[in-house]
Amino acid sequence: ETVEWDPEQAGKGEYDHFMLKEIHEQPTALAQALEGRIDPENARISLGDFEPGTFEDVSSVQFVACGTSYHAALYGSLTLKQAGIQSDALLANEYSVSAPPIDEETLVVAVTQSGETADTLNALRHAAAEGATTVTVTNVVGSTAARAADEALFIRAGPEIGVAATKTFSSQAVMLTLLGQRIVEDQFGEPAVDFETFLPELATMPSALDDILVRSDAEAIANRYEDSQSYFFIGRGLGFPVALEGALKFKEITYEHAEGFASGELKHGPLALVTPETPVFAVFTGEEDEKTLKNASEAQTRGAPLVAVCPEGHRAVDVADAHLEIPETVPDLAGLLANVQLQLVSYYAADALDRPIDKPRNLAKSVTVE
Ligand code: AGP
Repeated sequence: ETVEWDPEQAGKGEYDHFMLKEIHEQPTALAQALEGRIDPENARISLGDFEPGTFEDVSSVQFVACGTSYHAALYGSLTLKQAGIQSDALLANEYSVSAPPIDEETLVVAVTQSGETADTLNALRHAAAEGATTVTVTNVVGSTAARAADEALFIRAGPEIGVAATKTFSSQAVMLTLLGQRIVEDQFGEPAVDFETFLPELATMPSALDDILVRSDAEAIANRYEDSQSYFFIGRGLGFPVALEGALKFKEITYEHAEGFASGELKHGPLALVTPETPVFAVFTGEEDEKTLKNASEAQTRGAPLVAVCPEGHRAVDVADAHLEIPETVPDLAGLLANVQLQLVSYYAADALDRPIDKPRNLAKSVTVE
């Protein structure tokens, strides 16, 4: 007697898709990323080769990346900008025609899950040829990016099989935040955030993610808005890259039209698209939330259902048509919790449409051509 055994099915364990499995792996992936790198008791971070002082001579930071990794790069770049450091996130495929000036004091950080994305590798090589110091933040030890950059910071998320990047986005954003704090400490003598509150908050991220995964209403909300025409995602500050990522994930696996906007941009054009058939998912991070709520309400006035992604007790909950709850945390991390709710919405929307979630049409896990 033989037993049919499909190795791919076995790899998914109890889950129907790798994407859902990987979404649920995020608490573990993050715990692995943080292991030995944060010391909340002594309010210290420790990033291996990136010892204090490594970035003393850096005058500006350029992040280069594509797709989801670009959204993580935007997140990292914003934390540096908010701390007063000259920094930009740049699309790697635009870099060869529009790179800002580079010299020996420029730090170029290539963010790439696979470490094999041709566009990102080209940008990395261009930066190195111009004399920049290069670092890659990647998931794959021994990848081309890890070998090409001066230094590598590994996100330790474990293998990601689903074409849609999920757990690696969370781990990238957290590692970029830590790298950013090291850069800020080296430049200004102290981190931009109070480590005595930030590091314990970061240490509780895995359990905050667990809470979301156990209690999420994402499936019900995905079903409720199933017949919509377009899906909009808005956010401000650190919520903006999360809105972009929410929309990318949604379009990638559902094949439905989705767009991410900076909340304040809605009124500069996209509002013309808003109807009762265009649900708006608004990410609240604690940065100027009143303004985001005002922008979201303007869409709601035009008939759009408003889904608020925020903690219980937030003012937006009373106004919104639906609520995706995230635990209370600091603004630097709230967007990353919100992102997990949005991943789940995309997953359940795609599942209801019976899409091939792990292998969307026309896409590859790693894009090795320009
Ligand atoms: C994300 O869901 C996509 N599959 C895609 O945007 C991806 O993030 C991009 O191609 C970059 O890949 P990398 O991180 O391996 O460089």
